[in-house]
Amino acid sequence: MLNDIINISLEAGKIVREGFGSRIEIELKKQNDKNLVTQIDKASELAITDFIKKKYPSHNILAEESGELNNNSEYLWVIDPLDGTTNFAHGLPIFAVTIGLQKNGETICGVVYDVMNDVMFTAEKGGGAFANSKKISVNENNMLSQSFLVTGFPYNISDNPDGALDKFVELVKASRAVRRLGSAALDLCYVANGIFDGFWEINLQPWDMCAGILLIEEAGGMVTDFKGNRMNIFSPKVCATNGKIHQQLLEFLK
Ligand code: IPD
Ligand code: CA
Ligand code: CA
Repeated sequence: MLNDIINISLEAGKIVREGFGSRIEIELKKQNDKNLVTQIDKASELAITDFIKKKYPSHNILAEESGELNNNSEYLWVIDPLDGTTNFAHGLPIFAVTIGLQKNGETICGVVYDVMNDVMFTAEKGGGAFANSKKISVNENNMLSQSFLVTGFPYNISDNPDGALDKFVELVKASRAVRRLGSAALDLCYVANGIFDGFWEINLQPWDMCAGILLIEEAGGMVTDFKGNRMNIFSPKVCATNGKIHQQLLEFLK
């Protein structure tokens, strides 16, 4: 199944890459919203869901643009056909295609395809995490003050939900640096491969993080909600680290 996920992500990635930089229609998901969608998000998702419906017609699907297909299966495919749509729409080459596969509520494998760098991040439960077939692991830093962190802001950030802006300011002061890349799936991969020491965000959706959570766990890191409970893809607040700075980061997020 991992091979299928890799192949369909490559195919969806090709659609995204070919659409990048061309004249594309940008829609607002809701009026006055910051949340965008393009025809490329939809085309990428259609390629993925068509494949699943043909090869695994009895499986459940949860996909960002087309919603839920419930066949009462033990398998659930969780799909973000283009993570980083705002970057994509503005010509910034930081975005991904990501697919996670769950069996009875546990993620058993997943991929994040970094489209413009042509890097395929893959993980299987119990089998480690890889970038283009090379094993990856989290870094060893154990001091928040020396940490290189990454975060994201939800589309309703102007309401400062959960004091997110205040936490951001505090963590900018407490760490070495904080980045905001615009693709939660890639943020998680860059913790898994040791670039970042930690990532946090509120109001994430299951498709943003299903594969990325498994990648971090399989790379030796830790992913919890802000209370320190083990993460499930339906908890919107995520704290993901190398494990070593986890408690220190949680102190700021609690
Ligand atoms: C978004 C990105 C972004 C995060 C937002 C997500 P989208 O996903 O992952 O980094 O800050 O919360 O919604 O809309 O580009 O698929
Ligand atoms: Ca997303
Ligand atoms: Ca998306």
